[in-house]
Amino acid sequence: MQKGHTEMSRPTEKSRPAGAQALEAYDAALFAREDGLLVELRQEIERRELPRIHIPPAEGKVLQLLLRAIGARRVLEIGTLGGYSAIWMARALPPDGELITLELEEDRAALAREFLRRARLAPRVEVRVGPAADTLRELCARGGDASFDACFIDADKESYPAYLRWARRLVRVGGLILGDNAHWSGHIVEEPAPDEGTAALQQFNRALARDPGLESTILPVGDGLAVALVTSSAVPRGTSSG
Ligand SMILES: C[S@@+](CC[C@H](N)C(=O)[O-])C[C@H]1O[C@@H](n2cnc3c(N)ncnc32)[C@H](O)[C@@H]1O
Repeated sequence: MQKGHTEMSRPTEKSRPAGAQALEAYDAALFAREDGLLVELRQEIERRELPRIHIPPAEGKVLQLLLRAIGARRVLEIGTLGGYSAIWMARALPPDGELITLELEEDRAALAREFLRRARLAPRVEVRVGPAADTLRELCARGGDASFDACFIDADKESYPAYLRWARRLVRVGGLILGDNAHWSGHIVEEPAPDEGTAALQQFNRALARDPGLESTILPVGDGLAVALVTSSAVPRGTSSG
């Protein structure tokens, strides 16, 4: 199956200050310790030679805290890979909570299901396979508007602006829209953008900043976590998902 362009052409990491790396390791060791299952999942991703593009533990902990802070019960994730971030997020949900996570590739979805089952999270997590745009359209068509407390976007970078438009419909007022790779290994500041993926991420960040119905920022955790609180369901003109 075709992979997202940016997965194949992910930019190399610009030098991150050694101090920033040391501080993130310090934070993770104190606050974001992985259990054996999460460690095993990372090792399995490596063993299968899948791309190691899951979030780091420190970001998993931030996602958990944000979901708990808003009392999230129903969460949407775009981009599953092996279910690493899904496990972090699903652990923040109440027993009757629900996480729907979208993945293009069947083998990755199968790996995620296996580890979600072993984490005893299978009853509250559904992995849906196929192009995310199709599933998002279907969720909206089936009355999903404003039915999610949060949406975490972490799939093909070229589609981030489109995913944001769907998330604007699907996430309720008071909910959160979250986006990974908002700093794109430092390449986000390059003008003009060196490629389509970087341009799309720049567009995504600008859309977050300019939307009067969102209160947004980027947290410097992992590769930059965009965090937007939905304050109004009114979507700016020209940005509806159609
Ligand atoms: C960065 S990885 C997700 C990592 C995961 N969120 C984590 O941190 O554990 C992105 C995933 O999105 C999937 N993907 C790419 N394009 C997609 C699309 N159009 N629809 C659904 N999934 C897609 C890729 O196959 C890949 O597994």
